[in-house]
Amino acid sequence: MELSKRLSLIATMINEGSSVCDVGTDHGYLPAFLYLSGKYKSVCATDINQKPLDSARKNLERLGAGGVRLVLCDGLASITRQDADTVIVAGMGGEVISGIISRADFLRDNTVEIIMQPTTAAKELRHFLSQNGFLVEIELPLQENGKIYSVMKARYTGKPYSLSNEQSVIGILKPDSDDAIQYIQKQYKIALKCADSLKDVSHKQDEYKYYLELSNNLKNILGV
Ligand SMILES: C[S@@+](CC[C@H](N)C(=O)[O-])C[C@H]1O[C@@H](n2cnc3c(N)ncnc32)[C@H](O)[C@@H]1O
Repeated sequence: MELSKRLSLIATMINEGSSVCDVGTDHGYLPAFLYLSGKYKSVCATDINQKPLDSARKNLERLGAGGVRLVLCDGLASITRQDADTVIVAGMGGEVISGIISRADFLRDNTVEIIMQPTTAAKELRHFLSQNGFLVEIELPLQENGKIYSVMKARYTGKPYSLSNEQSVIGILKPDSDDAIQYIQKQYKIALKCADSLKDVSHKQDEYKYYLELSNNLKNILGV
């Protein structure tokens, strides 16, 4: 079976031989692909809603991937460390992803890897991860259907760390690929637009200065 570009990229970030849990699986395509590859110790998937779980079950059966365990629960509420050493939380907002991670105690273990793909609020997710001691070790940009995303792989270290203003919006991305350049350019344009709109608002000069500095720093990172 073939996966979308986005789900394929996520699949490449999972270590072979691991036990995998796909949180908020919906259609179940990622766990089906992982199971059928035969490269993983076990594959399970959760969803908070019955309807997507039913559609995942249908797809898994149709594709011959009935060995994927499906669990109806909020995030990782019914999943234990024994079930997963790699957790995927993709296709949801950054705040929802943060909530799922914060409620799963077993993720506070440096042998568990968490792969995240926020659809919105990537900045808020980066803040949550930094404040709660989850270190982002790999971050990859991805363009699909005219949208640009960042996929992050993190693990718990227990050591909170600070983020610069630039790191809040581009994470650990460097301008070393077309997709990464697009991602950074998008953040640069957003910062510039915010600065422009605040320039003449007398009571918002601190915010204006923040966005102006951010846009200048992003411009320097892009080398333009
Ligand atoms: C847009 S789909 C993403 C599906 C898939 N992960 C992907 O990236 O293509 C979001 C799914 O997450 C589920 N979801 C939302 N909040 C959840 C939570 N707290 N725990 C488990 N599943 C959740 C929804 O029911 C929905 O099926």
